[in-house]
Amino acid sequence: MKITAFNGTHKTGESNTAILVDHFLQGAAEEGAQIEHLRLAQVRIQPCTACKACWQKTPGKCVIDDDMSVLLEKFISSDIVVLASPIYADNISGLLKTFIDRLIPVGDPHWQFDENGESRHCRRHAKPTRLVAVSNCGYPEQSHFDVLRLYFRRLCRNMQLELSGEIYRGAGALLAGGVPEFAGHLASYLDLVKNAGREVVRQGSVSESLSESLEAPMVPLPGFNQVFLAKVNQLVDAQIPSKTA
Ligand SMILES: Cc1cc2nc3c(=O)[nH]c(=O)nc-3n(C[C@H](O)[C@H](O)[C@H](O)COP(=O)(O)O)c2cc1C
Repeated sequence: MKITAFNGTHKTGESNTAILVDHFLQGAAEEGAQIEHLRLAQVRIQPCTACKACWQKTPGKCVIDDDMSVLLEKFISSDIVVLASPIYADNISGLLKTFIDRLIPVGDPHWQFDENGESRHCRRHAKPTRLVAVSNCGYPEQSHFDVLRLYFRRLCRNMQLELSGEIYRGAGALLAGGVPEFAGHLASYLDLVKNAGREVVRQGSVSESLSESLEAPMVPLPGFNQVFLAKVNQLVDAQIPSKTA
């Protein structure tokens, strides 16, 4: 089984999204999956120009000369794809959206009705069949993923993919492990993320009970959000030169 993760953080170095993706893929690899983690910020992807050549003149092939041709091959040869992104302005990153737009050659220009009578395009390739969504954000509440929850459902309907798991985590700055008093909570949470990778390979999707655990507060201490907010504001003040002078 081949699993490829496309990570849309705009950072080329350390990334909180990458920490989640790496743990998920590590669990999947332990169950025998062939894994790859691709950072979209490290390749060249131009925006789709909506020329539709990939539907009419060069079926299934994009005419833009950049790294997307390699990524498209990786996409259609994967059994499961992971689409990963930090939250940017309540949504996926621009880079991940650009990548998703450039997936249009995998669609067939003909239309069909889905099982609910809603229109969508036919698809050109047998793979991938499943998608796992991964995201993290700055704020601590899980409500900041509301848009993504709907978006990935709609995208999977549109692209005829099964949504096999969703891993969303607020207070993303904690994922890098810089706060010693939360180290134990972080380790337990990242074990859950690894288990999600194992479950997706073993049984096709993340179980309901594991999904619930993944959504539970990472640091289950009363008043955590207030403490976190105060710490963030202290850090913000320390980083602004005029506040420290
Ligand atoms: C342009 C931009 C917009 C952001 N918008 C939000 C937001 O709407 N909500 C939020 O909770 N965090 C937001 N963040 C914070 C990131 O989601 C957060 O820092 C995340 O941990 C970054 O993940 P990364 O290290 O993989 O890039 C934003 C960050 C950037 C750079």
